[in-house]
Amino acid sequence: MALRNIVTEGDPILAKKSRPVEKFDGRLAELLDDMKQTLYHAEGAGLAAVQVGVLRRVVVVDVGDGYLELINPEIIDAQGEQRENEGCLSVPGKYGATLRPAVVKVKAQNREGKWCVYQGEGLKARCFCHEIDHLDGILFTQRLAPGETLQSSNA
Ligand code: NI
Repeated sequence: MALRNIVTEGDPILAKKSRPVEKFDGRLAELLDDMKQTLYHAEGAGLAAVQVGVLRRVVVVDVGDGYLELINPEIIDAQGEQRENEGCLSVPGKYGATLRPAVVKVKAQNREGKWCVYQGEGLKARCFCHEIDHLDGILFTQRLAPGETLQSSNA
């Protein structure tokens, strides 16, 4: 296992679309193990592979209720709306309120390739949406709620 460097805003890779995972092999397991270590080291709630420079549809999440690995994730249902502050390990020192669904259902494969369904509300729903956006090259700064501006957390 190894810590990987987290790329930050301004790096053009963050705007690129990630490709689906097709091989559930040792290389994927190594990427996931490294992403898990990098997520906990950075004290984040979620991390997408593109944030460590790998354009594959891989996400790791832990909002405090357990660690999840989501491969080729897709939102299959979304209900309601929430407007809450959000930040990103790739946009250090900044936050802002976004509009996200209140509850989402996501289907994703695990590291063995098996499909599973996950439900998240509140922070977990925001995190699922935020990380899946990364796979499509979208940052939370593009999802700010109407009238909202990016704030600096060092101010
Ligand atoms: Ni992020």
